[in-house]
Amino acid sequence: MSSLVEQAKKAAAYQAVDENFPATAKVVGIGSGSTVVYVAERIGQLSNKDSFVCIPTGFQSKQLIIDNGLQLGAIEQFPEIDIAFDGADEVDPALNLIKGGGACLFQEKLVAVSAKKFVVVADYRKKSDSLGIQWTQGVPIEIVPNSYAKVIPDLKKLGAKTVNIRQGGSAKAGPVITDNNNFLLDADFGAIKDPKALHDQIKALVGVVETGLFTEMASKSYFGEQDGKVNVWS
Ligand code: A5P
Repeated sequence: MSSLVEQAKKAAAYQAVDENFPATAKVVGIGSGSTVVYVAERIGQLSNKDSFVCIPTGFQSKQLIIDNGLQLGAIEQFPEIDIAFDGADEVDPALNLIKGGGACLFQEKLVAVSAKKFVVVADYRKKSDSLGIQWTQGVPIEIVPNSYAKVIPDLKKLGAKTVNIRQGGSAKAGPVITDNNNFLLDADFGAIKDPKALHDQIKALVGVVETGLFTEMASKSYFGEQDGKVNVWS
């Protein structure tokens, strides 16, 4: 990955933390992925970091919290989150998101909907006029493993052009297993006109645990740009 992209991620993450982290925060959600690495780094630099707990969205996120000297909490203990930060695979102007490229979408959504404020951090490649244009590998959908043979044709009936069970690639022969011991499908619906309606239809299928369509959750999205500036959508 080019250092320009890394610089963009870092600039977005640092500015998002600096402008939004509440001085009185007690519970903070930490997302997953490569951009949120810089969020955890910035939060780890706060002098009052012993005064709040951080709620992870998966295994990687838990490691980030520990590695940055932050206090680790569980969402079962702290279901009311003051603020959560997370990355995204694609963001539209209404702040609808596709998430789950890193296979962590269920816990990410649980944290996002539990947060009073949800702030997205991303680089310039994630901005899109409409979901499904920039992120072309499909909507990530977490499913109960033995439901795939039913859910795949159901998704095609809803308009998916292709549906793939995400594979571990060279790291693992066979499907990716999520942090919740489930499978992930990537369903390509092309450009998505109404993300909320599509989410509702997919979520209603038996076997579907959660979709990577995040609607009506984010309050702001910070994009690191190629010129070093940060663009904020709200
Ligand atoms: C994890 O499942 C994803 O939702 C990530 O938050 C998303 O893929 C963004 O990751 P990057 O910051 O690595 O692009």
